Amino acid sequence: MRCDVVSNIMEKKNIDCLVVTTEENIAYLTGYRGPGALIVPKNDRPLLLVPLLEAYRASDIVKGEIEIIAYTEYSFPPSTYGTIRKGRFREVLTSLINEFNMKKVGVDLKSAKHDLVNYIREHINASIIDISTEIESARMIKSVEEIEFIRNAVRIAEKGLKKCVESLREGMSEIDLVRIAEYGMREAGAEGYAFPTIVASGPNAAYPHATPTRRRIKRNEPIIVDLGALFKNYCSDLTRTLFVGNIPNDIKKVLEAVIEAQEEAIDCIEPGIRACDVDEKARKILTKYGLDKHYIHSTGHGIGIEVHESPTLNVSDTTILKEGMVITVEPGVYIWRRYGIRIEDDVLVTKSGREVLSSFAKVIEV
Ligand code: GLY
Ligand code: MN
Repeated sequence: MRCDVVSNIMEKKNIDCLVVTTEENIAYLTGYRGPGALIVPKNDRPLLLVPLLEAYRASDIVKGEIEIIAYTEYSFPPSTYGTIRKGRFREVLTSLINEFNMKKVGVDLKSAKHDLVNYIREHINASIIDISTEIESARMIKSVEEIEFIRNAVRIAEKGLKKCVESLREGMSEIDLVRIAEYGMREAGAEGYAFPTIVASGPNAAYPHATPTRRRIKRNEPIIVDLGALFKNYCSDLTRTLFVGNIPNDIKKVLEAVIEAQEEAIDCIEPGIRACDVDEKARKILTKYGLDKHYIHSTGHGIGIEVHESPTLNVSDTTILKEGMVITVEPGVYIWRRYGIRIEDDVLVTKSGREVLSSFAKVIEV
């Protein structure tokens, strides 16, 4: 368990019990990604409450560091699977919290389900303090181990992308390319995908979050491939715009502008600069080429346990970048009913600047 993170939050928020209820926050603090809740009472053993079907898996992940309590609505003999509490999740959770007789309980309210939060409020005998911001801030700064997991996830996504480039032919469908990308990531060791792979060709590429279709790929049109792998619970997120044949001159100019915007934005990343400054940089370059009206999303986002985490590189996020953050930089141009271009890399903020974790070519014609 990330004891340092937990004790910092407990001290800062002056709480005597920490309760985390979302899969991502539980995964961050314990390594177990799944349904349940983590309960850490001050000066007592932490508990991980999980559905009975997850008890073996959770136990094998946390290896005795945290006590596992399984809940079920069935009756089981107590010795069969360790500690079992009969009841529904929310009932068992609140009765466990009440057993500790705590006065101030910190809960990740922002990401927790509303009906669960309402239930907790009505059923625990303690005041509830929101600790969402503190967990979010801790998650923004990656440890050496987390960075290593992301590096692996990036390497795997690059292998999937390489398979796409090697297999790309006129007449293939977008879905064919998704299959090749995802198969390539699995072959390289992906434990899952960070998000459903996007392949969007021709006019479909004007949708930043296109759903892949059976549309057949034509020569000389942009094909956006946006893919990410999961490795040890950590995500990567990579995009390239590929072409079969040649890049038409007008589109080449746009591609070059997007690459310039991306490289300039990456080059300004260093500790102390704000997330919004990186966004402004990319937007300025695209404005220079008259393309800003086609730049319809933010410049990037943090990656980690989730593919979209804080900070967001947009106009309103003034988060100051710090060493250990990992962010995407992904400017794009989207011309409705014609085409789209996006280039995305994953960047680690280092002590003195940045390190681009991905290293795939940016102009790809096959
Ligand atoms: N890779 C999808 C996105 O960042 O929105
Ligand atoms: Mn992204």
